Amino acid sequence: MMKGGTLAMAVLAVAVVLTQAVTIKKFPYLPCAKKPTAYSVLPTVRNPDPKTFCFTIQVTATENCTSYCCGADLRKILIDVNPECAVQNPNIHVTLNDGPIKAGPAFEPGPNGPNNSVVLRLTQLGLNITTAHGAEVCISLARNSQGAGCRTMQEFCKPPAGEADGTCAVAMLDSQYDCCPIAKASSYVMPPPPPPESPPVLPAPEPCPVCVTLNRIEYFPLYPISFTAQQCQAWADMVVSNITAFAGLVDATLLNLPPAVKCEDDMLQACVKFASAEEGYKLEEYMEPLVQLWYSSFVNPCKAYWRGWYGASVTVNDGVDGSGCLQHYTSLVCDPAPIDFPKCKCDTGMVTPFFAAPILEKRPFEGSRTNDTLYCFTVFVSTPFDPDSPCGRTTNLLKAEIYADDAQRRKVKNILVRPNGANSSRLMSTSWASPGEQTLKVTPLNWNREQAHGASICLVVDNAADIGSFCNAPGSDTCTIIFFDDTKDCCPKFDASV
Ligand SMILES: *[C@@H]1O[C@H](CO)[C@@H](O)[C@H](O)[C@H]1NC(C)=O
Ligand SMILES: *[C@@H]1O[C@H](CO)[C@@H](O)[C@H](O)[C@H]1NC(C)=O
Ligand SMILES: *[C@@H]1O[C@H](CO)[C@@H](O)[C@H](O)[C@H]1NC(C)=O
Ligand SMILES: *[C@@H]1O[C@H](CO)[C@@H](O)[C@H](O)[C@H]1NC(C)=O
Ligand SMILES: *[C@@H]1O[C@H](CO)[C@@H](O)[C@H](O)[C@H]1NC(C)=O
Ligand SMILES: *[C@@H]1O[C@H](CO)[C@@H](O)[C@H](O)[C@H]1NC(C)=O
Repeated sequence: MMKGGTLAMAVLAVAVVLTQAVTIKKFPYLPCAKKPTAYSVLPTVRNPDPKTFCFTIQVTATENCTSYCCGADLRKILIDVNPECAVQNPNIHVTLNDGPIKAGPAFEPGPNGPNNSVVLRLTQLGLNITTAHGAEVCISLARNSQGAGCRTMQEFCKPPAGEADGTCAVAMLDSQYDCCPIAKASSYVMPPPPPPESPPVLPAPEPCPVCVTLNRIEYFPLYPISFTAQQCQAWADMVVSNITAFAGLVDATLLNLPPAVKCEDDMLQACVKFASAEEGYKLEEYMEPLVQLWYSSFVNPCKAYWRGWYGASVTVNDGVDGSGCLQHYTSLVCDPAPIDFPKCKCDTGMVTPFFAAPILEKRPFEGSRTNDTLYCFTVFVSTPFDPDSPCGRTTNLLKAEIYADDAQRRKVKNILVRPNGANSSRLMSTSWASPGEQTLKVTPLNWNREQAHGASICLVVDNAADIGSFCNAPGSDTCTIIFFDDTKDCCPKFDASV
């Protein structure tokens, strides 16, 4: 019996002779019999993790076969590899039935192959037709210490001609290197081959639906806000008119169908159909600015009702996530500068059952002789983060305070409050904390949960005032309010925008 080294040298010698004679262009780049055979691998690999793929070896007995290859052992596996993956000191780990293999995996040039052919060699497997059946060979890929090497099966395997990336060709060799059945395996299930008899038909291009969706996101069930039917129609009209205009510009064929518009409380969607994916793709370079336009014409991420626990996104696809001839997504965030409010030390999280809606309702003060404007906060009761904590058990909304500019104190005339269930509003005079504290007080309230739910707190403001500037947030149309409990240790803070 030959020792391993001698055998390798012998093979090398044969290989050298053969290289001079003839180049074998096809994997496994060796003169050997591909049929008959007992060995194959399952067509689908197992991926225990993203960088590992596992082949399952199959043994199929051929009845009455007396050929050597039908009973040969299985010593060695070769895998056809993309040459870029053949780096120095590769970081590749191979297991056989979850255990180590005797010889480390190694790259070698395709023995009689063309220049640039590379195979990964796994040898001394020691399998035979009884032990090989069901044996699993797992290959884990990682970059080497220089950061080089391939990490996925798609990058690693050179697919057989006509096969998709991610398909691996595997040759299974016996100790004499006489038999080399080849099997292929990939990480997905192969579509069934087309019936061989049918005449070749040019497939009609599939139309490509393009759906543009504006989603309202609520990260925490707080204050429900709904899109209106008018908003939905306006937004859908804009989307469809923009797509139609740009399709005309780039000569992309849209199917002549009415656009499909869907309007829900938290979702607006307009879908059109291009004649084919190719036609749709003609708009690709214009999509990014259009998506930004569709978002920004509707969503201002700095408004209280579009940030924090609320949000929105615009998605373009064919109606299914991650699919379609055009795929885009945008969602912007706005982080307002932190404010020094309140001045006292208390918990400003959503710790008590008392919440303010993110919408600051602006309306004329009916019956006001000086044409004042009302800016109204809406209070509602919901579940605090920790209902069993001291703040969470609060049952009384003692008072509210609003972050506002001391210097503009004359802009607010009165405060109009109305608890839930009251038949009329109560007009309160304004009261400010010491100058410099930037605090407008709304006190006392002393509302229980029933009274607070749906209650309103309205600032009666001079018509000419800019509410954002009054609330120390110029240009934002946003005010900040806090609600105190009896201990004044809990002061949940909310922003509301016009
Ligand atoms: C295999 O050999 C047996 C016994 O000689 C015979 O009866 C059978 O038909 C053979 N099968 C095939 C597929 O040739
Ligand atoms: C392969 O490489 C050898 C040596 O570098 C060269 O002589 C030969 O022409 C190359 N063959 C092909 C097909 O590129
Ligand atoms: C296969 O290998 C096993 C374990 O080494 C051995 O027991 C068995 O006899 C072998 N079978 C054949 C057909 O060589
Ligand atoms: C998109 O459509 C709207 C409404 O029809 C229009 O005002 C706007 O100019 C269009 N934008 C672009 C970039 O075509
Ligand atoms: C209030 O508005 C009305 C109608 O716009 C106007 O006639 C009146 O002069 C305004 N009054 C004040 C005090 O600005
Ligand atoms: C509101 O009005 C109704 C009927 O006029 C009366 O029964 C009720 O007591 C009033 N509620 C309050 C809080 O004043």
